[in-house]
Amino acid sequence: MKVGFIGLGNMGSGMAANLIRNGHEVTVFNRTPSKAQALVEQGARQAARVADACQGDAVISMLADDSAVESVVFGDAGVAKNLHKSAIHISASTISVALSERMAAAHAASGQRYVAAPVFGRPEAAAAAKLFVTAAGAPDAVDACMPLFESYGQRTFRFGSNPADANLVKLSGNFLISSVIEALGEAMALVSKAGLDEHEYVDFLTSTLFNAPVYKTYGGLIADKKFEPAGFAAPLGFKDNRLVLAAAEKLQVPLPLASLIYNRFLTLLARGGASLDWSAFSQLAAEDAGQTVLAARLK
Ligand SMILES: NC(=O)c1ccc[n+]([C@@H]2O[C@H](COP(=O)([O-])OP(=O)(O)OC[C@H]3O[C@@H](n4cnc5c(N)ncnc54)[C@H](OP(=O)(O)O)[C@@H]3O)[C@@H](O)[C@H]2O)c1
Repeated sequence: MKVGFIGLGNMGSGMAANLIRNGHEVTVFNRTPSKAQALVEQGARQAARVADACQGDAVISMLADDSAVESVVFGDAGVAKNLHKSAIHISASTISVALSERMAAAHAASGQRYVAAPVFGRPEAAAAAKLFVTAAGAPDAVDACMPLFESYGQRTFRFGSNPADANLVKLSGNFLISSVIEALGEAMALVSKAGLDEHEYVDFLTSTLFNAPVYKTYGGLIADKKFEPAGFAAPLGFKDNRLVLAAAEKLQVPLPLASLIYNRFLTLLARGGASLDWSAFSQLAAEDAGQTVLAARLK
């Protein structure tokens, strides 16, 4: 397919590379143009403006947060004004339910199609085409996107025709991951303060009842204390925590665990942890227990 790709950060650069590898004709745009260089060498065309990335069958946006997506989608120079009629905007970023609803309305008003397709998996999974895609939108539009999803994902899950439902699923998933980070942080603070080896402990967990990718990935990161460079930066994790709380407030669904984790993020950021991986907040349980794992890295 002829596709534009906007947002070449940790996730977008790997996704765009896989689109090229799978034979799609890819035009890339990034706010910081130098980040497109490696993809140009792999065969991408570089767009000087957002509008130049909107000339194909579809354009994928993979940007940090709501305000980044708003600045790229709306306004005269944005996606909504420049995408061809019946072309598809695929929003892969983790954004609010409210913004996804706004984009669905704007694209419908312009005769364009809109699919929300946020992804699960960290940058290594994006580079290895192992993402899980959660997609929602008009069935014909999602069908048309499948060759793109199959280029960077290992499996696509469809959540009906209301795009914002896919965003809610994504936010609920990150809430679950953050709950695992908190629970692992607490359990590992307990055993490590008693002198047990954290790697052996994670190996035990993930070989028995907790044999799941999320425990393997985050158990490993926490045992290694490997929070830099950030695969998923703490401010982005905090953004998802706030977004799930906003969605829950609208639906009147209390999420007491998410409220606890909100304060974990606030503590991590207040102490200078913005450049760390979001999983670094796991160490706050150890700090509460008098361990000083983060002390060297934080104020
Ligand atoms: N990292 C993960 O593990 C992961 C996994 C699943 C989903 N996600 C979600 O995927 C999205 C991207 O994450 P990421 O880790 O790739 O983030 P990232 O490395 O920080 O990249 C963010 C991208 O957004 C662009 N951007 C930020 N603010 C902008 C603005 N105001 N205007 C235009 N462009 C702007 C950046 O451009 P510059 O290069 O110019 O800064 C960059 O291309 C986020 O919504 C995140 O929550 C991340």
